[in-house]
Amino acid sequence: MTDVTFVSTNPGKFREVQKLLLPYGVRTRWRRRSLPEPQAETLEEVVVSKLAAVRDLTGYVLVEDSGLFIPSLRGFPGVYSAHFLKTWKFGPLLELLRQRDRRAYFRTVAGLQRGRRRWAFVGEVKGRIAERARGRQGFGYDPIFIPEGGFRTFGEIPPAEKNELSHRARAIRQVGELLRSRGR
Ligand code: IMP
Repeated sequence: MTDVTFVSTNPGKFREVQKLLLPYGVRTRWRRRSLPEPQAETLEEVVVSKLAAVRDLTGYVLVEDSGLFIPSLRGFPGVYSAHFLKTWKFGPLLELLRQRDRRAYFRTVAGLQRGRRRWAFVGEVKGRIAERARGRQGFGYDPIFIPEGGFRTFGEIPPAEKNELSHRARAIRQVGELLRSRGR
């Protein structure tokens, strides 16, 4: 077993990451710590500063940053996803999209660090924004995001199924591959 410390304040993310890494022989521990989220234009920049803030931790340390990107809103809320949701919930987004293209995608950048070595992995899932919030599973924007090829929102999709196709799954599986290939 390889051990990884996942640093985040979000229990929903931790549960997903823990399940995703287990098949690769990786045991994930959760370190609940709030990390700086600088005003940055890309998820990559945010991840780099999160990694800098966890240099004190030893072994493999994993962080991630995600966002919901809506091309018809020029990528908004994107890197501002967390802040926007906390302040406004879903209302304004649904309102803005009444007359606009509803296509959207979730993107995750996962950053892994061990000592001086760092790796980054990207995962995306395409879909569209629902007309109204549906479902109670998951967290964040899940109730308004419908992944491509279906009708249910992530909020209506059981966690195991979301973990098959989500942006986070796609990034974290690459972390799993890397850790498996590096062995202990
Ligand atoms: P952060 O990576 O914690 O900064 O997340 C940015 C925002 O996107 C937060 O509001 C999260 O709740 C939301 N978010 C991140 N991942 C997901 C997801 O898998 N589903 C729904 N919302 C998400």
